[in-house]
Amino acid sequence: MDDILKQLDQIASNNPEQNDPKRNDPLLDGEVDLPSFSSVFTSDVDHNVQIFSHVFEALKSQGLLLYHRPILSPIDRQVTVWDELTKSKKEMLMFGSNSYLGMANDPYVKEKVREALDQHGVGMGGPMLLNGTSNLHRLAEERLAAFKGKEDCILIPTGYMTNLSWITTLMADDSILLYDEVSHASVADGIRLGKKKAFRFNHNDVADLEKQLQKHREKNKERTIFVTVQGVYSMNGELAPIPEILTACEKYGAKLVIDDAHGTGTMGKGHGTAEHFGVSKRLQYSMGTLSKAFSVTGGFFAGDRATINFLRFFSRPYFFSASISPLIAATILAVLDLIEREPERIIRLHQNADRLRKNLKAAGINFLPTETAIIPIFPPHFDCFREMASAIHQRGLFVNSIEAPGVPRGRERFRVTVMSTHTEQDIDRASEIFAEVFSQFKPRTETKS
Ligand SMILES: Cc1ncc(COP(=O)(O)O)c(C=O)c1O
Repeated sequence: MDDILKQLDQIASNNPEQNDPKRNDPLLDGEVDLPSFSSVFTSDVDHNVQIFSHVFEALKSQGLLLYHRPILSPIDRQVTVWDELTKSKKEMLMFGSNSYLGMANDPYVKEKVREALDQHGVGMGGPMLLNGTSNLHRLAEERLAAFKGKEDCILIPTGYMTNLSWITTLMADDSILLYDEVSHASVADGIRLGKKKAFRFNHNDVADLEKQLQKHREKNKERTIFVTVQGVYSMNGELAPIPEILTACEKYGAKLVIDDAHGTGTMGKGHGTAEHFGVSKRLQYSMGTLSKAFSVTGGFFAGDRATINFLRFFSRPYFFSASISPLIAATILAVLDLIEREPERIIRLHQNADRLRKNLKAAGINFLPTETAIIPIFPPHFDCFREMASAIHQRGLFVNSIEAPGVPRGRERFRVTVMSTHTEQDIDRASEIFAEVFSQFKPRTETKS
């Protein structure tokens, strides 16, 4: 078993992606291609399942597997976690949730959901197209459309399916999609599912995008060219240079779709990354998810009335799936109320993220100096990454560790997300824990200076 682990580690450290300077920092968002596993997998499915089981059990028994941690309390600044290793409950500070505004356990949101439960029950029993659309669903679509400054909006069961929807439905046979190389996995899957023509450009590289726009526009003056980027990159917390990207799209007559999963509710006054840059009005469409600041599940696509109606009748991921629950629609409405009524939540979120960045800097910890609520923290060295992750967990801090073999050796990181409900003490404790753990683990092999 240890042999398999060693072999996988070896393959991860030899992954050529690690040595590609262009790919040094960006991490494929959600596109964890597990290069090392695919190298040991064969055509025998049972063998592959067994290999994975061995690795899984080995990591689990050593307390090094921090996936699917059972959370017994609502998601909030502090959570109660069932600790598999000690077989006991553990109170933990939550710095690993995308519930940025603390809406998952908000009393007003819960009250509105209880009212919706009494009035509408738990579900619709089928897709919106055939089995009905409650007034809450329709209201949520209208409010989201207005929130994004668009005429109409369609609610889709997940954010993942929202990307599948617009890519497979709006792109014609000769359309082209240009996408940032670290786009979410749902973009790649939409392209595959719809068998669409797509090309990726270097991460946040407007000159590379412009070169490709020019090339594809010259080849065909009529075709529709789509461009997609994320407002806030989910894994590294960076912003896309939206104004420059938009200008390039306008120059070549391309349509820009911003996946603003992490910017909606957190950037600008909450209307998203385009608002942060003051360019919302220049955007034709707006895509977002309800799984982050809204703390539930679902995705939405907003735009002109005719395009949204077209999606309602031609998007297979939409009309072949049951609609989101009315309880989610009620949550959307309640969260929109709070974002509009309590702007201090977003101010607080950014103050908290600033405080964490300041603390990390003072402690000499290596992190990406983002302007968002997502802060990637790099360990001082890449030996014992899993042991560091386990020590952070044991000290009561819940963060996401992004590790090899999911990413190549040397690109491991802790993805830390701040919430508006964190207190200053929470932030200070989180940075203290990182400082304590990082000072405790020395590299296995000392390098000579
Ligand atoms: C940028 C981005 N787009 C799309 C999605 C998919 O959203 P959902 O989880 O709502 O399906 C995610 C979720 O991780 C994301 O980060």
